[in-house]
Amino acid sequence: MFSLLIKGGTVVDGTGRPPFRADVGLQGAKIAALGRLDGTPAGKVIDAAGLVVAPGFIDFHSHADAELLRDPEARAKLVQGVTTEVIGNCGMSLVPGHQESLPLLAAYAGPVLGEIPPGFHAAGVKDYLSHLTRQGMAVNVATFAGHGSIRLAVMGMADRQAGKAEMDFMAALLEQAMKEGAMGLSSGLLYPPGCYAPTEELIALCRVARRYGGIYVSHIRNESDGVLEAIEEALEIGREAGIPVHISHLKACGPCNWPKIPRALALLAAAREQGQDVTWDAYPYIAGSTTAASLLPPWAVAGGAAALRERLESPDTRREIKKAWQEGLPGWDNMVKSLGYDRLVINAVSHRENADCVGLTLAEIGARRRCDPADALLDLLWTEGGSLAIETYHACEETLDMILRHPVTTIGSDGIYSGDQTHPRLYGTFVRVLGRYVRERRLLTLEEAVAKMTSRPAARLGLRGRGRVTTGFYADLVLFDPETVADRATFQEPAQTPAGIAAVIVNGRVAYQDGRFTGELAGFTLTSSNTAGAYV
Ligand code: ZN
Ligand code: CU
Repeated sequence: MFSLLIKGGTVVDGTGRPPFRADVGLQGAKIAALGRLDGTPAGKVIDAAGLVVAPGFIDFHSHADAELLRDPEARAKLVQGVTTEVIGNCGMSLVPGHQESLPLLAAYAGPVLGEIPPGFHAAGVKDYLSHLTRQGMAVNVATFAGHGSIRLAVMGMADRQAGKAEMDFMAALLEQAMKEGAMGLSSGLLYPPGCYAPTEELIALCRVARRYGGIYVSHIRNESDGVLEAIEEALEIGREAGIPVHISHLKACGPCNWPKIPRALALLAAAREQGQDVTWDAYPYIAGSTTAASLLPPWAVAGGAAALRERLESPDTRREIKKAWQEGLPGWDNMVKSLGYDRLVINAVSHRENADCVGLTLAEIGARRRCDPADALLDLLWTEGGSLAIETYHACEETLDMILRHPVTTIGSDGIYSGDQTHPRLYGTFVRVLGRYVRERRLLTLEEAVAKMTSRPAARLGLRGRGRVTTGFYADLVLFDPETVADRATFQEPAQTPAGIAAVIVNGRVAYQDGRFTGELAGFTLTSSNTAGAYV
C-alpha cells in the first residue's frame, strides 16, 4: 500500500541517465518503489501521463532567509519545482549575529533578503532553524553562515583589518554556527563589509568551517576586470584552509572581460585536475542585479547608509566618486566602467519621485534629467538612501552558454527579494533552464539539466537521501510537462508563475498541484549532521 502513487510518468532520475518509464510509489516521506506499480493500492494517485517525474530542484544559491519567515510556502520557488532552499549565500545570513546588529544587518542585507519581519529574533543557527521548524515551511532548508553577517556583528561596517580579539570573536561565532548545523561559510567580497576583509581573515575562518566538514562558498571579490585574480583568491583560500570551494554565480562582467570566461573555466579545470575540490553555479540570465551602493568605491560606503548619504551631500566627495568611476581604483571592481551607463538599468526604487526611472538605463535617465549619468546615479543614491536595486547587463549569450554547458556547473537562482521589480530569476530560474536551454535551444539534454539542479548540488552539500528519484530516497519530486515548461517572469513583470509545472511534492506531501498551493508545510531543516562527507 502506497500513500501516494505517481502513475505513467517518465522518470528523469537526477543522476544524468536517460529518461525511463516508471510509476513511483511513495510511503510517507520516502520513495518506496519504482517500476510497474499499478497493481498496488494507494491512498492517492496522480496520473503523470505525458509528464516528467524528476527530483525536486535544489536551489543552491537562495536568499530566502527572511522570505521563509514572511512566506512559509516559499511560493516564488515552489512554483518552479524547488523543494530545497540553500540559504545564507553571498555572505548574508540572518544568523549568527546579535540583536544589536540587526538594524545594520537589515540595511546591509535588505535589498537582497527583503524586509526582516519586525520582532524577529534568533540567537543563532539552531534557534533560527528551530523557529522555521515550529512555524513550518513548504520546502527543505539548509543554510550557510554568512561571513558578512558575522563581521557585521563583531566589527560593524568598519573598513579595516580585524584585530586579534575580533578575529577570535568571529571564529567563535562561526564555530557555534557550524556546531548548530551550518553547511559552511559563505562570503560576499564584492561589497561591504566583506570587501574590507583580507584573504587571511577568510583563510582563518575557513579553517574553522573545515573542522566541522563545511565548504566555502563565495561571491568572489571581483567579477569583472579582476575576475581571474578573484578566482585565484578563492582557490588559494581553499588550498590554505584545506576546504572545498564553491564559486557563486560564475560570470565575467562587461564586454572586455568576456574573453576571460574560457580562461576562468580553464583555471578551474586545472585546479580540479590537480585535485582541488572546486565547483561553481550560475543562473540562466545575461543580466544580474545588485544594489546601486555596490557600484561605489568601497571608501564611499564605509560606515553604512547614513554615512553614505552625508558624503553624497559634499560636492568634493561627489567629484571624487566620479573620478573613481572614470579612472578606477586598485583592487576595486568598478562596474560602472566595465559595463557602462547603458548596461545599468534601475530595477526598483522606494521613492515616488524616482518612479519614472524604473526600467531605464542610467544613460537614459541622464538624458531625461539633462545631467551626467554619474550625477543621476548619485542623486538616486542620495534620495533612495543607498538601497537602490539595479539590473546589470553584464554577460552575453555565448559566455553564458559556455558556463551552463560545463559539466561542473550547477544551477542556483540568486533570486532576491527587492520588491515588485525584482530580478525575474527569482520566479524563473529552474523552469527557464528546462524551457529555454533544454527544449528551445537544446544546449543541454533534459537529463543533464536535471542533474545540474538535483543530484549534483545534493552531492556538493553532502545531502543524504535527496536529489535522486530512487528507492529509499526522500520523495522530493517535481512533475512537469517537458513540452510546455517555461519561465514567464520578465524584468517588467517578474512575479509570474511559470508554465508547465503540474505538481511539487516535498517529503512525500503534495505542496503544489495544478496551480494551487495545498498549504502543506512538509519541509525539513537539513543540517550538517545529516550530511555525508566529501563531494566526488
Ligand atoms: Zn552574490
Ligand atoms: Cu547571492
